[in-house]
Amino acid sequence: MRRLEGKIALVTGAAVGIGQATAQLFAEEGAHVFLADCNVAGVEAASAALSENGLRATPVAADVARGQDVTQLFRTIASNAGKLDVIVSNAGVNVRSDLRHLSDADWVRIREVNLDGVLRIARDGLPLLQASGRGSLINVASIMGHRGLRQLGGYSATKGAVLALTRALAVEYAAFNVRVNAISPGFIETAMTDRALRMPAIKQGLVDKTVMRRLGQPIEVARVALFLASEDASYVTGTEIVVDGGMLAAL
Ligand SMILES: NC(=O)c1ccc[n+]([C@@H]2O[C@H](COP(=O)([O-])OP(=O)(O)OC[C@H]3O[C@@H](n4cnc5c(N)ncnc54)[C@H](O)[C@@H]3O)[C@@H](O)[C@H]2O)c1
Repeated sequence: MRRLEGKIALVTGAAVGIGQATAQLFAEEGAHVFLADCNVAGVEAASAALSENGLRATPVAADVARGQDVTQLFRTIASNAGKLDVIVSNAGVNVRSDLRHLSDADWVRIREVNLDGVLRIARDGLPLLQASGRGSLINVASIMGHRGLRQLGGYSATKGAVLALTRALAVEYAAFNVRVNAISPGFIETAMTDRALRMPAIKQGLVDKTVMRRLGQPIEVARVALFLASEDASYVTGTEIVVDGGMLAAL
């Protein structure tokens, strides 16, 4: 029995990386997945790859930092599916800069995508989650929400806020039968980390700090999202699952 049979799911930032792996796993587990991303060609290709394999996938062009895009995204899902069982709020960006040099424009961009976007998806997605009768909202935060690392200060601030937002949403949304949880990945090999990981000294330094002595893969985050999305997590809300190979435990 597939674990998301008959379910409707939305994954934001689904063109590549953790979002793409999550969308694929959810579709393989029987869900009809709406893949949303501001990378229009990328999300259409990711969705087509799933459809070609007989899976149910629909691409939607949407920038989570733009209110009108999010409104239109949920209109599209409402008219196609009428409900949402699962949302994985995964779209995120990082701009590397020390805080003392962080420009207003860069800070606003990180915040608009990583925090405002997550709040907007949670707020505007509630009616569709409520319509499912048993909703699960999963916000992708980061272990950087717990730790400081040079040049990641702005990013850390938004991810810490996403963890606080997740708890607050869980308290409020329980009345609507919607569970709200966060996943905090450690260092996962994706486009976001690619530039840093191409520097052998940085990559080795991160491996050395990881208890399991390797970096993570997108599918390893996706499998945790599947758990939180499924009935296996029916009594889990307001919390966070760290997926970091033990990095936080040892720092
Ligand atoms: N890779 C890691 O090591 C890591 C660690 C901790 C947390 N995370 C978080 O996981 C999530 C996914 O990261 P990833 O590594 O797969 O990144 P990625 O850069 O590989 O993919 C991010 C996707 O989000 C999309 N996106 C960016 N801004 C968007 C917007 N405004 N609207 C819609 N889509 C947008 C991009 O087009 C891309 O498809 C992010 O929230 C990131 O902060 C990643």
